[in-house]
Amino acid sequence: MFNEENQVKKYLLKWYSKNARILPWRNKYRNNLPNPYFVFVSEYMLQQTTVNTVKNKFQNFVIKWPNLDKLAQINEPQILKFWSGLGYYSRARNLLKSAKIINKKFNNKIPCSYDELIDLPGVGNYTANAILGIAFNKSVMPLDANIERILVRLHAIDKPIIKVKKDLRYLADKFKSKNFSSDLIQSFMDYGSEICLPRNPKCENCSINKFCQSYKKNLQYKIPNKSKNKILKTIKYTRAYVIVNENNEILVRNRPSKGMLASMLEVPNDNWVKNKNLLSTDQIVKKLKTNLKLKGSFEYSFSHFDLETEIFYGNIKKAQLSNANWIKISTYNKSGLPTVMKKIVEIAV
Ligand code: ADE
Repeated sequence: MFNEENQVKKYLLKWYSKNARILPWRNKYRNNLPNPYFVFVSEYMLQQTTVNTVKNKFQNFVIKWPNLDKLAQINEPQILKFWSGLGYYSRARNLLKSAKIINKKFNNKIPCSYDELIDLPGVGNYTANAILGIAFNKSVMPLDANIERILVRLHAIDKPIIKVKKDLRYLADKFKSKNFSSDLIQSFMDYGSEICLPRNPKCENCSINKFCQSYKKNLQYKIPNKSKNKILKTIKYTRAYVIVNENNEILVRNRPSKGMLASMLEVPNDNWVKNKNLLSTDQIVKKLKTNLKLKGSFEYSFSHFDLETEIFYGNIKKAQLSNANWIKISTYNKSGLPTVMKKIVEIAV
């Protein structure tokens, strides 16, 4: 019987056979499937980060730690240092925790069952299904933003995606593939990023436009419906202090072990507050004998809030602070400072 979903699947697989993006975690090995460890690492990296940013980082990651056994032997500061530039550091911590669990409990083999995957730190429903489908060809359909967009366009669903998650789950399941799951899932992802683009979909080049209700009704620029899809971000304020000694070193310290950027390096900064009037100067900075010079301010965007930072610069003698940690100005870019802190240093020095 004629079945639209099967037709769409066929067209997408055909398109993918010619147009798949060449990505380092996709190289196929045994069973015509990618290396499960590579897929596992890539899915952690791709949570909240674009494919382009992840590409190079991923290459370097697997050069450093080419298999799960190697990764399981390292410690947290090593992976956090490597993760600089990707942000959302809890992913790095969770990836390492998972690697240690898989090393102990699963003999270094990435689990291939939903129940085992979902129990790993940092693996949610989406990531579990992405790994099952892409690495093990299991018949599943993970729902990422690209796939959601294709589905609401195909069905001309004119409601914000956030309001129709349940319907999308039901519609996505109709596209599960028995034999070509890995390729089909990735074909959806690539189609969403190459053809069915968020703003300017390439409908004229789309091989499934005859199945697309939005295209038929000329609604492709209105769907997905973007109202109320946005998170309204709050703004927080801080002041940061780039303190430099006579050896051209910058004063740094570790952040608290809980909360944003837990345990990462930072330059001294005041508590992050929602009301500027509540700013109070950092205890250590208060005691320093130095003239602080305002160097500028900038806004850094975290997932749920923006951080507006005024940046101050000062010189002190190293002897003013015994037991302090310092990093060289010349190599701060290669240090374990998270991106927001690197930007602060960049403005000050
Ligand atoms: N986003 C999340 N997983 C992905 C993958 N395997 N390929 C491309 N984009 C992705």
